[in-house]
Amino acid sequence: MILEGILTTCAADGRLHLAAMGPEVEEEEVLRGRLERLVLKPFADSVTARNLTRQPEGVFHLTDDVLLVAQAVTGTLVPPDCRRADEVQGWVLADACQAFEFRVVDGGTPGDRLRLTAEVVRVHQGRPFMGFNRGRQAVLEGAILVTRLHLLGPERVAAELASLLVLVEKTGGRREQAAFALLQQQVARHRERDQARGAASSAPG
Ligand SMILES: Cc1cc2nc3c(=O)[nH]c(=O)nc-3n(C[C@H](O)[C@H](O)[C@H](O)COP(=O)(O)O)c2cc1C
Repeated sequence: MILEGILTTCAADGRLHLAAMGPEVEEEEVLRGRLERLVLKPFADSVTARNLTRQPEGVFHLTDDVLLVAQAVTGTLVPPDCRRADEVQGWVLADACQAFEFRVVDGGTPGDRLRLTAEVVRVHQGRPFMGFNRGRQAVLEGAILVTRLHLLGPERVAAELASLLVLVEKTGGRREQAAFALLQQQVARHRERDQARGAASSAPG
């Protein structure tokens, strides 16, 4: 199964890089409450893939903070509170429910999407996971759509966000509302860019 979360890796200059990521995990390990392996599948052209190729270790976090996810996918991240990892070169976010320091043990075969098998080498327990919230789930789905804007186009993403908005308004809190607003702004920016490009290419030369 896939668990959605936040991955931190070390940039070339040693600074934290943060990306939303959904590694494959063994369902049995989830049921036992003890993750031992993660299969990370970053796109080969992502910063995360570059960082993991240079330094094959990092920290995967489970969190219910969808504002962080929305900030990560819209490039509006405010540097989060974090500390150095214990066993690997990397960063542990202060406000996560669980954090898993990992080392890549198998780099797989190169392709558009890497397939990196990683071993968990240290687990940190953070604050408790406070339960399901449909608004949060809607932000998560919206965030995935926003990362696919270049494939789906702004019209389709805007339409799908409109149906998710109902859940955020009905059931979300302030962080969910703020997160969703970031996603909507990103779609609007993408649309404006497309329109500006269209106008430039149709202008008489
Ligand atoms: C919930 C969620 C899960 C994601 N899972 C992945 C994934 O498994 N692999 C991937 O390449 N991108 C994934 N993405 C998209 C990345 O976060 C996004 O493409 C990002 O731009 C790549 O980050 P980077 O270039 O900063 O490393 C996911 C996004 C969200 C919101």
